[in-house]
Amino acid sequence: MKEYLLTAGPTPVPERVLLAMARPMLYHRAPAFTECLKEAQDGLKWLIQTKQLPLVLAGSGTVGMDAAVCNFLHTGDKAIVIRGGKFGERWGKICQAYGIECVFIDVEWGKSVEPKAVAEALEKNPGVRAVYATASETSTATKHDLEPIAKIVKAKDDVILCVDAITAVGVYDVPMDKWGLDVVCVGSQKALMLPPGLAIVAVSDKAWKANERSNLPRFYLDLVRERKSQEKGETAFTPAVSLVVGLRESLRMLKEETLEGVFHRHERLAKATRAATGGLGLELLSSSPVNSVTGIRVPNGIDGSAVVKQMRTRYGITIAGGQDHLKGKIVRIAHIGYFSEFDIITAISGLEMTLSDLGYGIRPGSGVAAAQATFAETRRA
Ligand SMILES: Cc1ncc(COP(=O)(O)O)c(C=O)c1O
Repeated sequence: MKEYLLTAGPTPVPERVLLAMARPMLYHRAPAFTECLKEAQDGLKWLIQTKQLPLVLAGSGTVGMDAAVCNFLHTGDKAIVIRGGKFGERWGKICQAYGIECVFIDVEWGKSVEPKAVAEALEKNPGVRAVYATASETSTATKHDLEPIAKIVKAKDDVILCVDAITAVGVYDVPMDKWGLDVVCVGSQKALMLPPGLAIVAVSDKAWKANERSNLPRFYLDLVRERKSQEKGETAFTPAVSLVVGLRESLRMLKEETLEGVFHRHERLAKATRAATGGLGLELLSSSPVNSVTGIRVPNGIDGSAVVKQMRTRYGITIAGGQDHLKGKIVRIAHIGYFSEFDIITAISGLEMTLSDLGYGIRPGSGVAAAQATFAETRRA
């Protein structure tokens, strides 16, 4: 059976990137690799919209989040953690693993955080030295608007804003320097169109200052050592060479498309998926839907896990379900990275056929028609 990967990570990898990664291995302390890393660094600066040197680490996205905690806090510091889904929860777990006391801002899953909640928490908790936020909360397909939060944090000289932008960078506009984000984490298996295995961390001048007083234990994730090496086009330890070669290629593709083109592609696929949801008479989970992935509530009486399983086993289409209390309640269709119109048509059509198989009455084609109408409306000359 032909397989279709329509999850928010791992995501499909373009043939061009696969072929680049298939080339013979490079020695990481020789000019060919240095050249490759430098080009990738320039591409990342462009994508993250920063003048800072983005640091490329080996590991999944969580490695970047771990580094964003252990490099910037001091024993006894407190951190504000915005917790509106699995990835917000992860920030809290990482902080707690390092003994950091968390001030949680709990946000109902599927809703966006109120910036004033951050301002209030900062006023009430003078020992806070960092705010940990999630730009695109993949588990609930929700966008958190970080620009106003960045403004609030910027006004505090001794507080930094660390952002999990793992499913946001390369999807929609999250300009690091313009907004004043202090630490930005990105992962390879998302909009960068690569296999899993790279985490990227970009650090502001304010966060490097915070690093000077930080004393949490770290070795592999010591960003100061990484920066020293990466400024010279090397890495402190053996890098994930093939993935860095792939990164250079995927960034070339994104540059050819232009930043604005990349954002527009994600927006129209997301819009079409949302329109299809309405066309099927279904509801979105999120009141602040993000352009990386769409969370759809399954109809009453239908088990969302059965939908996911039927789509995979009968039609070869892999989508994701819900986690924790959303298990069985939602399905998530991704449109982050190397996706096109027909990936969405496939996902929606597969969802329609699956719902029919499971005994839920829908008009075949009603979701697909709505998606097509959106594609027609948003197509550029
Ligand atoms: C919002 C978000 N944060 C963090 C991660 C990082 O997870 P991982 O360590 O599995 O790459 C992911 C990946 O799914 C994500 O979507």
